[in-house]
Amino acid sequence: MITVKNVSKEFVSNKKYPGFKGAIKGLFSNEKVSKVAVDNISFHINKGEIVGYIGSNGAGKSTTIKMMTGILTPTNGECLVNGVNPSKQRKINAQNIGVVFGQRTQLWWDLPLSESFTILKEIYNISDQAYQESMTFLNKILDLYSFFDRPVRTLSLGQRMRADLGAALLHNPKVLYLDEPTIGLDLVVKDNIRKAIKEINEKYQTTVILTTHDIEDIEELCSRIIVIDNGKKIYDGSLEKLKDTYGTKRKVSMEIKQLNAFEGIELSETLGVTPDLCSTRLDVEKNTLEVTFDKNKLQVPQVINAVMSIADVQDIQIQETELAEIVKAIYQHNVAK
Ligand SMILES: Nc1ncnc2c1ncn2[C@@H]1O[C@H](COP(=O)(O)OP(=O)(O)OP(=O)(O)O)[C@@H](O)[C@H]1O
Ligand SMILES: [Mg+2]
Repeated sequence: MITVKNVSKEFVSNKKYPGFKGAIKGLFSNEKVSKVAVDNISFHINKGEIVGYIGSNGAGKSTTIKMMTGILTPTNGECLVNGVNPSKQRKINAQNIGVVFGQRTQLWWDLPLSESFTILKEIYNISDQAYQESMTFLNKILDLYSFFDRPVRTLSLGQRMRADLGAALLHNPKVLYLDEPTIGLDLVVKDNIRKAIKEINEKYQTTVILTTHDIEDIEELCSRIIVIDNGKKIYDGSLEKLKDTYGTKRKVSMEIKQLNAFEGIELSETLGVTPDLCSTRLDVEKNTLEVTFDKNKLQVPQVINAVMSIADVQDIQIQETELAEIVKAIYQHNVAK
C-alpha cells in the first residue's frame, strides 16, 4: 500500500544571527544553513497494517508524514501510496488518504462542524447515500452529533480531535495518517480515539500510520513500529521483537525483614556473574531489595535462591522492563543498534 524508497528531506534556510543586530544582518546575508530532517529512509507498509512511527522530538516524523501525504516533496527518493506519487499527483492522492495533525485542526474554525462536513462531502464528491452511511458509522464511534451544530472554535480539545478524525475519515480513505492524534487528551478521550481507530481498521482494512509520544497508543494499536532517530531509521519490526531485543532486563523486588544482612554484599558475586549483569538497590523504608538482572543470563529462581540464602523473603514481585523504558533507552542511544 505504501512504499517509501530511499527518501530524504533537506531543509535549506537563511542563517539566523542572535539579537536585533543579528536580525538585520540576517536580512542582508546570503548565508544558508541546511538540515537533513529525513535521511535515506525506506520501508513498505501493507494494506490493513497499523504502524507506529516513533522517535524523539525533531527526529523527522512529521516531515516523513508530510512527504507521504504530498504536502512536502522529498529532496531525494520516492514515496508511492496506493500506486500514486503523493506530491506529483496530489488530487488523486487526496481521494485515497485521510490526515489528522493533532497539533492543529483541518476544519473551518468559525463554521458549525456540520457545515465543515457538508463542504468535505462536496470536495470529495461523496454521494448522499455514501455520506449517510459514513456519518452513521462515524457518529456511532465518535459521537459527533452531540456537538455537530457548534462552531469548531467552541469545541473542547477532545471534541475537536474527534471531529478532525471524523472529517479525515468521511470519504473512507484507504490510508489514514495520524500525527500525534492523542496529544493533550484526557484518558477517556484517548481511549475513545484508540477504539475508533481500531474499529475503522477492522471494518475497512484502513492502513494507519501514526506518530505518537504516548506509549499506550503504541501498545494498544500498533503491531509494528518504525523508530526514527536523527532522520535515520533505526528499528522496523514487531513490538514483541523490540521488547525481546532491547528489553533484556528484568526486575525482582523482594520484601525482606533483615535488610541489613545485604549491606556490603555483592549479589552478583553470590550468583557468580559480573556486576553489569546483576545490580541491587536497597529501599530501607519499604524494606525491599530490588534486583535488576539480564534475563538472558540469569533465571528468576536463581536470583531468588541467592537472596534467600542470605535472608528470609516475605514477598516477591517480578517485572518485565516496561516499553516506556525501552523507548527511552533507544531515544537516549543507550542501546546497541
Ligand atoms: N520547514 C522547515 N524548515 C527548516 N527545518 C525544518 C522544517 N521543518 C522541520 N524542520 C526540522 O527538521 C527536523 C525534523 O522535524 P520534524 O517536525 O519532522 O520532527 P518530529 O519528529 O515530528 O518532532 P516532534 O516529535 O517534535 O513533532 C527538526 O530539526 C526540525 O527543526
Ligand atoms: Mg512532529
